[in-house]
Amino acid sequence: MLESEGQLRYAQPMMQSLTLRRPDDWHLHLRDGAMLQGVLPETARHFARAIIMPNLVPPVVTGDQAAAYRDRILAALPDGMAFEPLMTLYLTETTDPADVAAAHASGLIKAVKLYPAGATTNSHGGVRDLSTVTAVLEKMAEIGLPLCVHGEVTTPEVDIFDREAVFIDTVLDPLRRRIPGLRVVMEHITTEEGVAYARAGGDDLGATITTHHLIINRNHILVGGIKPHYYCLPVAKREKHRLALRAAATSGEGRFFLGTDSAPHVDALKEHACGCAGCFTATNTLQLLAHVFDEENALDRLEAFTSLNGPRFYGLPLNEDRITLTKGTTAQWPAKIFTEAGPVTVFDPGFPVQWHVEA
Ligand code: DOR
Ligand code: ZN
Repeated sequence: MLESEGQLRYAQPMMQSLTLRRPDDWHLHLRDGAMLQGVLPETARHFARAIIMPNLVPPVVTGDQAAAYRDRILAALPDGMAFEPLMTLYLTETTDPADVAAAHASGLIKAVKLYPAGATTNSHGGVRDLSTVTAVLEKMAEIGLPLCVHGEVTTPEVDIFDREAVFIDTVLDPLRRRIPGLRVVMEHITTEEGVAYARAGGDDLGATITTHHLIINRNHILVGGIKPHYYCLPVAKREKHRLALRAAATSGEGRFFLGTDSAPHVDALKEHACGCAGCFTATNTLQLLAHVFDEENALDRLEAFTSLNGPRFYGLPLNEDRITLTKGTTAQWPAKIFTEAGPVTVFDPGFPVQWHVEA
C-alpha cells in the first residue's frame, strides 16, 4: 500500500517549465520622476499592464492629472518595452462625479482608489467622512467603475494588527450595503477575515493579494532585529493569516488576483528612525510566486492568479502574449535597483528560489 502510494507520487512528472499568459499587476506604485524612470523597467519586463496607484505628491485626483501621469509613465518606458498603465484617480472629499465619469468614458481610468485619510503613504488627502463621496460612489456603481479600497481604519484606539478586520465590519460592509452594485476591490488583503469577506461577496467583489504577504508574517519583521524592508501597510499579520492568504491565492477562485503593491522607497527612507511602508517586489514577484505555488502544489492555478482573474474582474481582454517560467538553478536578482533617486532594496524572501522567468 505504502509502496504503491510512493510509486504513484514518484510517477507524477515534476513540472519544470510553465507557460502562462503574460501577467498583469492589479496594484502597483510607480511614483514619478527619477524613481519612475528607475523602477518602471522592473515591472514592464514581466507584466503587460498594471493598475497604477495615484498616491503621488500631490495625488492624481482629476482626469487631466491622470492623463498627464499616464504620458509621463509612457515617456519613461525604455525603447522596445511594451507596457500599458491602467490609470486610477485618488478619491477626495471634493472629487467631481462628472470628472470621474468622463475619465472612465474616455477609457483613461479603470478604477478609483479610496484611501482612508492617514491610513498609509501620502493618504492625508484621502477620505475622512465617506458620506461626502456618496454621489461619486453612486455614479461609479451606475457606470460599473471599480473602487479599489485600502481597507484599514485609522482610529488611533484600534491596534494596527486589527485595522483590516475592523474596517471590514465598520466601514466596508456598511458601504457596500449603502451603495448596492458598487464594484469593489479589497486591496492587499492580509487577514483570514479579509479572505472570508471576499469569499462571501458576489461578482461585484474582488480582492488583490501581494507577493510578500504570501511569504512573510509579522515575525519576519520583528524577530531577531527590526527588518525595515519587510514593513508595509497593511502590516503582515500572524502566521494563520499568511496561510489563509496562501490558500486563497492558490485556490484558483476568480475573486482573488495578484496586486503586488510593489512600493519603492529609497533605502535612506526605509532604513530610518521612522521608516516608510512598502516592499519592492516588482523585480522578483513572478519567480517568488512560482516558488509559492510550487510549494502549494498549485502551479496549475498560477495563471488564474496572475493573468486571468484580474482582467475578468475588470472586464478587460486577456493578454495574448505568453511568458515562460522554468525551474532550475538558484535564481539571482539584484539586491538593489539603483535609481537616480537613490537605491531601492529588492524584497528578499529569505530562502533560495529555483524559478526563473525566460526573457
Ligand atoms: O506599504 C505600503 N506602501 N502600503 C501602502 O498602502 C502604500 C504604499 C506606498 O505608497 O508606499
Ligand atoms: Zn499600495
